[in-house]
Order: sequence, then C-alpha cells, then structure tokens
Amino acid sequence: MCSGEATVAGLGRGVGGEKLEHWVGGLASVSTFMEGDHVRKWDCRGYFQGGQVPGRLAGGFALCYGVDRDYWDSLADRYEKDLLEIAREDRSGVLTEELETLGGEGISVADLGCGPGSLLPFLVGNFGEVIAVDYAEQLLGQARQRCRSRKVRFVCRDLSRGQPLPFKVEVVCCINALIDPDRDKRRGMLRSLRSAMSEKGLAVIVVPALESVFHVYHTLRMIREREGAPDGLDSNEAELMMGEEVDSFTSGIIKVGGTATKYWMQEELTATLTELDLKVHRVRKVQYPWTEEIENPPEWLDGMGPWDWLVICGGDGDGLQAG
Ligand SMILES: C[S@@+](CC[C@H](N)C(=O)[O-])C[C@H]1O[C@@H](n2cnc3c(N)ncnc32)[C@H](O)[C@@H]1O
Repeated sequence: MCSGEATVAGLGRGVGGEKLEHWVGGLASVSTFMEGDHVRKWDCRGYFQGGQVPGRLAGGFALCYGVDRDYWDSLADRYEKDLLEIAREDRSGVLTEELETLGGEGISVADLGCGPGSLLPFLVGNFGEVIAVDYAEQLLGQARQRCRSRKVRFVCRDLSRGQPLPFKVEVVCCINALIDPDRDKRRGMLRSLRSAMSEKGLAVIVVPALESVFHVYHTLRMIREREGAPDGLDSNEAELMMGEEVDSFTSGIIKVGGTATKYWMQEELTATLTELDLKVHRVRKVQYPWTEEIENPPEWLDGMGPWDWLVICGGDGDGLQAG
C-alpha cells in the first residue's frame, strides 16, 4: 500500500512491445512515439520491467511516497517476472566478482534487504553462513522457498529504525535496498548495517546512480541527432520528460513507475559512508545492458551503458581483501 498518493502524468518510459501512445498520453508534445522507437523504458528496482503496469493506461499512476513493507509485499507475486534482479542482470559480473573475493567457508555474510532472495544461492555457494534480512514478509517467504539451504537463516526486521542487529558477520551486502526517499530511514538502515559488521568486516553496497539517469537522457538526445525523428528525444522532449521523472534534483529522488526512489551521486554516497565511519575502499560501476533502459537501442550504442554504484567499505583493509 502506498501512502500519500497523488496522480502524475505518464512518464517517458515504455514497456516492451506495447503501443507507446498510451503512456505518453499526459505529454502532448511527445505524442508521436511508435512501437519500436528508441525511448526510455521502465527499468527497475521496485519498478516494473514488463507486463501490465497498473493505472498506466488510465493516463497516469500513483506517486508513492514513503515506500513501506506493504508496498514491497504488494510486488511479491510478480517480483521475479517484472523486476530487475541484480543477480540476473549484472552481466558485467562486478558484484559476484567482489563477493567471490570476500567469500570463503569460514566467512559469514548477511544480505540486508534480500527481497525474494535472488542473491542467496550465490551466497550459499561462496560463504560458510548466510543471514537473509528483510521486513517484507511475503518477499522473505519467497526467499525461503528459493533457497532451502541449511546455511541460511532468515530474519524479518525493519532496518530503518537503526537498531543494532542481533548478529555480527564478516561481510554485509545491501543491494538496491537503500532507496527509501526518506533520508532518516536510509540513515537508520546504514546504522543497522554498521552494527552487523564484525570489527574488520566489509560491506558491499549497491545503489542506483543519479548520474546514470542524466546519462540515459543525454544518450536519448544523441540518438535523435544521429537517427532523426522519431527515434530518441529532442532537447525539449528530454527536458520535459526528465523534469517529469525527477521529484527532487537536490535530494536525488526519481519517480520510478510512480514510486519515489532515492538515487545516489557517487560523492554523496562516499561522504555518507565516511560520516558513518565506514571507510570507502573502492567504488565501481555495475553496468547494465542498454536494453534495460532504452527500447530497441541502436547497434552503434555500445560502450558505457546505464549503471548502479557499487561500493566496498568498512574494515581497515588488513582483514578481508578490501583491495
Ligand atoms: C529493490 S528490492 C532489492 C531486493 C534484492 N536486494 C535484490 O537486489 O534483488 C529492495 C528490498 O529492500 C527491502 N527493504 C526496504 N526497506 C527496508 C527496511 N527498512 N528494512 C528491511 N528491508 C527493507 C524491501 O523489502 C525489498 O525487498
């Protein structure tokens, strides 16, 4: 359930294979898109990757502020089908590479905000003990079904309260869970994360990159310049659509499928972690294929695709391999 609902115009994102006139209904100046054009599509971290988007055809959708456990549980039935799961989509292998380096039979790991548990089979294969934490009971139930290994302990807990967790592990991962638009809740989650880290423990944190949103719109303009209309976006369309998508530039809040979602700048991320006494060892990009963001991307559009930020922090660099 979303609190504080408000209606917003349809955003500039298409859903694979459907006629796009529907979802641009709210934007008169960009009403000429056709199926197959190069446009921004839904990507996801709580956003729909395909299929039906509730309310979309009605010309708008709810803007959900204050995502809560009911919101996440409401996605449970279609999570695997509709949402991007990093364990599936990280084609660069950056996340698994980092986790493999930190793993080992005698090493324990906690997955904070594990959702339906897409990362758990990998963690079970690479660590001695796994603790999976989430506050959405239905998602946690799915994670249980998905990973029945005895190595895994499941904990239902609201991390945003910042209370110390009842365990310590060498490695904490938190993958696209620090996305609540409420800064205090994110801080609470980070305090809980910190509390679960053993003295020399390390955290592997992945968050949506705000810079990547700019990159996608800039790329859509390049597509228009090279391919001509109706592909990509002209400058007015890009300004308009990005303006519609951004809830707050200064806070990095993006409306994703109508849901207010925190996106992070690299500097903001490192400053926040440093403030919490989590030493940042390295920041990397977890890159996704262009198809995650742009429907039918042109072939010449290779190279730097959209990305999330991955950061390794904590410890003192002497214990586990901080790099
Ligand atoms: C976008 S999903 C990511 C799930 C998983 N880490 C993945 O990458 O597939 C975000 C997850 O964070 C969880 N979450 C968000 N806020 C939380 C909180 N305050 N306490 C515990 N879990 C939370 C949600 O329930 C959801 O499962």
